[in-house]
Amino acid sequence: MNATLTPPGARLAVLASGRGSHLRHLYKACNQGILDAQICLVVSNNIRSSAWRFAASEGLPHWFCDTRHDAKDSAVDAALAACLLEHRIDWVITAGYLKKIGPSTLAAFPNKIINIHPALLPNYGGAGMYGQNVHRAVLAANERQSGATVHYVTAHYDEGAIIAQNHVTITQGMTPDSLAEAILKIEHPLLVHALQGLLTHHD
Ligand code: GRF
Repeated sequence: MNATLTPPGARLAVLASGRGSHLRHLYKACNQGILDAQICLVVSNNIRSSAWRFAASEGLPHWFCDTRHDAKDSAVDAALAACLLEHRIDWVITAGYLKKIGPSTLAAFPNKIINIHPALLPNYGGAGMYGQNVHRAVLAANERQSGATVHYVTAHYDEGAIIAQNHVTITQGMTPDSLAEAILKIEHPLLVHALQGLLTHHD
């Protein structure tokens, strides 16, 4: 059989609204064959984000999800679900995508939407717990450890079943910035590792 006819692996969609370091890392992992997958769609609600610019510059299919104030949640949800289905997506990864995933999208992709969160859930998750807010709260509580969690996405922020976690030790003098940096270093391999497991054990 001609090698070019080999099935291309799982079809991933990455939802990202910010810096896009996970998007870049996943893209690399797919290209290097570390993940048996390809990024078939990037969704963003921020066309000024690095994630969006990266998708455009690499020629990845990218779709603007219009979540501005006047957009109805149910319409956004239906459009997102339709777009993911149209691109025949197998797994959806939210990485720095701050909007809730609506019921139509959740129903169309049961147990196929995962998120990475920069703390050890079930602690330090939920509404408002993103970016620096998370790290500030962890440091204010004098925690000795923080880390990252990969989990399934449900109707409630950061509450789905945990798939994988890794820890970071908090050292004296750490700031929200330095803690975020230390956690990001473990986040990238953690997400790839979690996906490797999911792609191996699911249909
Ligand atoms: C990561 O810290 C992730 O844990 C959180 O949002 C951040 C996204 O980073 N959910 P990036 O935009 O992929 O660089």
